[in-house]
Amino acid sequence: MFRKKEPNSQGFELALRSGDFSNLDEAIDMLREEEQPLNVRLRLVHLLGELRPEPALPALLALIQSGSSPGSLKQEAIHAVKKFDDPEIGEKMAAIYPGIRADTYVREEAIRLFASRPDRAAAFFAAIRESKVIHKEDVPYSLARRFYMLEEESIPEMAEEIWPESKLLTAKEKTEAIASYKRQVRSGKGDALAGRQLFLQTCGSCHRLDTGGGNIGPDLTGYDRSDLDYWLLHTVDPHAGIREGFETVEIETHTGRKIWGKLEKDEGGTKYIRPPLGGKGESLPDSEIREMRILDLSIMPERLLEPLNEQQVRDLFAYILK
Ligand code: HEC
Repeated sequence: MFRKKEPNSQGFELALRSGDFSNLDEAIDMLREEEQPLNVRLRLVHLLGELRPEPALPALLALIQSGSSPGSLKQEAIHAVKKFDDPEIGEKMAAIYPGIRADTYVREEAIRLFASRPDRAAAFFAAIRESKVIHKEDVPYSLARRFYMLEEESIPEMAEEIWPESKLLTAKEKTEAIASYKRQVRSGKGDALAGRQLFLQTCGSCHRLDTGGGNIGPDLTGYDRSDLDYWLLHTVDPHAGIREGFETVEIETHTGRKIWGKLEKDEGGTKYIRPPLGGKGESLPDSEIREMRILDLSIMPERLLEPLNEQQVRDLFAYILK
């Protein structure tokens, strides 16, 4: 008697990888089955993102939309969908977005998808401006900046209109800001203890100074702590001389998709890029890459001191310069 074969994800994987798509329907079914172990579904999603067979796209979108998909699966599925070339992805994802925005990781992966191509950005902007179902507050500075970097068409202008606070300062504005902070620091005494808290809040997610802090930026312990001009320059203008080893690259694929991040590995004809502030990394075969360049922009945001009042500016620098 004919016995239905148990679906075997490794079998699918091998077949799909070798270009045999005859089991694709079954693989897609397996993706939908909630009783499948999560790691099996994650691996399949990842594989489908790498191979990009057209019929898998609706299933991946459904997975993102489904209320019963775990967040990690949605995130992986968004990452996979991002790699497909279908021109309707932007609109479809904009329609799905309001239902998935509650989970920060899922939301930010979706925003990275919108920022990956001009047509997708346009669909996202239309949903913000026209339907108002998407809130511009969902987009943190570092992700808003990505839209500015899509050079084509009117995308950067629209980004500027939606997130004026993410616009880069002009050289003149920077000079004025540095002079103004310098006056503030010199006009009174700061409290170094309060300043340490401010440092941890404002800078500590990326930098270490003395003890505690992140490693996205250089460890600032041991830097010359007496030179106010140095600290002000690099705080107001992070792009003034980017420290070696902290550069960001921009890759454009032949299909016009852009990927930003740190080039972590470049070997065997494949580049591995990791977003510096979290999110899914990506391996790209050189054959898919049209162009890669090193950006002269730092991932350290501008305007970090703007939320601080004068006393807080004095406190912060009392700590830094202590
Ligand atoms: C989102 C992460 C992030 C935050 C927040 C951040 N920085 Fe940075 N910072 C970096 C990165 C990455 C670099 C290295 C690239 C560069 O030189 O711009 C850097 C560079 C610097 C440098 C220059 C170091 C060098 O060796 O050239 C200074 C000084 C600095 N940051 C100070 C600060 C201070 C002060 C704050 C808080 C007010 C702050 N940073 C907040 C990521 C960050």
